[in-house]
Amino acid sequence: MQVAVIGAGYVGLVTAAGLAASGHRVRVGESDPAKRALLRTGTVPFHEAGLSRIVEEGVENNLLTFHGDNSEAIDGAAVVLIALPTPPADDGSADLSIVEAALRGFGAELAPGTVVALKSTVPVGSVKRFQKLIDTIGGQATVVSNPEFLREGSAVTDFFHPDRIVIGSDSQAAAEVLTSMYESIQAPVVVTRPESSELVKYASNAYLATRITFANAIANVCEAVGADIDEVTKGMGYDRRIGFHFFQPGPGYGGSCFPKDTRALVSTSAEAGYDFSLLRGVIDSNDMQLDRMVDKVRRATPDIDGARIGLWGLAFKAGTDDLRESPALKIAVALTDLGAHVVAFDPAVSTVDDERISVVDDPITAAAGADVLVVATEWGEFAGVDLRAVREAMAGSTIVDARNLLDPVAVRQLGMSYVGVGH
Ligand code: UGA
Repeated sequence: MQVAVIGAGYVGLVTAAGLAASGHRVRVGESDPAKRALLRTGTVPFHEAGLSRIVEEGVENNLLTFHGDNSEAIDGAAVVLIALPTPPADDGSADLSIVEAALRGFGAELAPGTVVALKSTVPVGSVKRFQKLIDTIGGQATVVSNPEFLREGSAVTDFFHPDRIVIGSDSQAAAEVLTSMYESIQAPVVVTRPESSELVKYASNAYLATRITFANAIANVCEAVGADIDEVTKGMGYDRRIGFHFFQPGPGYGGSCFPKDTRALVSTSAEAGYDFSLLRGVIDSNDMQLDRMVDKVRRATPDIDGARIGLWGLAFKAGTDDLRESPALKIAVALTDLGAHVVAFDPAVSTVDDERISVVDDPITAAAGADVLVVATEWGEFAGVDLRAVREAMAGSTIVDARNLLDPVAVRQLGMSYVGVGH
């Protein structure tokens, strides 16, 4: 099948390369010339396990091509996937202007029977809104919803082995075209009305954000009453209705999706007359969780103003170089605002926008001379760093482990103080 993907961002590129690897001919519309030039050589401009290989293969086999002109990308396509950014507007709602501008640009050129699938996270009602737009400008395509559930760091595996494929369309024919595009992928296909599919995406992210926030809240209760979060989640997790997965306490959720989507769902609900107070509470609790981590560091050093803080991790989670809404970076900025000098190391990040934060290229250099060491991103390799060398390099002796990654016993055996989450 010939497929167009509009936008070579995270979701667009993984989807395009995955579809090319499944044997489809995929033309990607990407407006950034520098990005196009890189991608044409098979080079991926961000860190994602396994992506370079399938992009390279797609380019070599001529199944994956990149185009500056969207009209060229959509020419001959049976399916056009929209994977453009929908950034939050000031009120938390999703800003659809980029998607709208693109559809206005090529909408009238879509061949009859083309399926336009919205992969970008868009508010409920967007399929109807964009269908109207295409109809008004004389296009003959059917717009459907096809939300994306990829996780950064495991996006390629998630593409080939999704838990489900959700398609929202009132047209059975359009749903069938999209289902056939995914035929090589083994997963349940859930076909819904457009509004339900659009809501599945927000509801899933809001549920997962709530689950993490619940684990964080119980960790905070543990600290108050002398319980231990690992013991509590273990005791809870054997209940199959609860489970062990996605229940790890930390500095609060971050990234480009959960913070944006939870705010957008609160805003959509409010506009529709429903006060989603539970989700408002989740968002507030998540902000407070980050403040608690900063407080743990403040309490560990007599004077934060002028203190040197070593920081392990900058990315919003392990396996990515993405700094968007990163709790690690927010901790670094908050400590810097309080007068601390933060020296950070992250295996995938070599610079940050804030020049007050120094970024070094190994974990021991980050710890050197530090009054407090903070573990802020859960990179597995941090657990393997020689703690004796850390102890010798540091000026102080406290580790604040915002990810519960290190072994508290091993840290304490070296005469250091260990401050985790929920212990
Ligand atoms: C999330 C969803 O998991 C994907 O299904 C969805 O497609 C994606 O958003 C999106 O909407 O595009 P992602 O943002 O890549 O994926 O990251 P997650 O692995 O979900 O982690 C989100 C945040 O929660 C991170 O800050 C992570 O450190 C934190 N987290 C995750 C915890 O604090 N505890 C956990 O147990 C799990």
